[in-house]
Amino acid sequence: MEIHRYEKIWLAGALLLIVGFIATVSYGAVGAGIAMVDDEGGQVDPASLDDHPKFGEPGTYQAGENEYDVYVVARQFLFEPGTSEPIRVPAHSTVTFHVTSPDVIHGFEVVGTNANTMAIPGQVATITVEFGEPTEYGLLCHEYCGSAHHAMEGKIEVVPQSEWNESMVVN
Ligand code: CUA
Repeated sequence: MEIHRYEKIWLAGALLLIVGFIATVSYGAVGAGIAMVDDEGGQVDPASLDDHPKFGEPGTYQAGENEYDVYVVARQFLFEPGTSEPIRVPAHSTVTFHVTSPDVIHGFEVVGTNANTMAIPGQVATITVEFGEPTEYGLLCHEYCGSAHHAMEGKIEVVPQSEWNESMVVN
């Protein structure tokens, strides 16, 4: 059987496209470091977050030498802390964010970085971030959560080591 030259070129092109699509989808699924919120952070009762030992008093907790845990409640339509007062962490520290919500699904995105998670009622999302030089980051909700979703924002302050003090941690 004779296959026309153009037919062969189109066949090869179509095969290349299929291989390319499979490669990009595979990369997006496993290669880009993107994952669903898993059970690592544990679960909480969204109705009684105020009684939780950490989410009842959200903020920055000392976890080790130069290591911090930041507990954040994302609710309609603010981050606590983050919105009315910034989340404060010291420069050159390793920070694990624990984020949850008492009402609906929110987003927690550190603007301009790849630190980004969903905040799901009942589930605690954890992400660990290495902070460098002192600076400020914006914080955004990226899941539609109601009428003031567009206004749900906050701030992270990376404080110079020289200005960091006890009053900036909860415990
Ligand atoms: Cu919270 Cu959108």
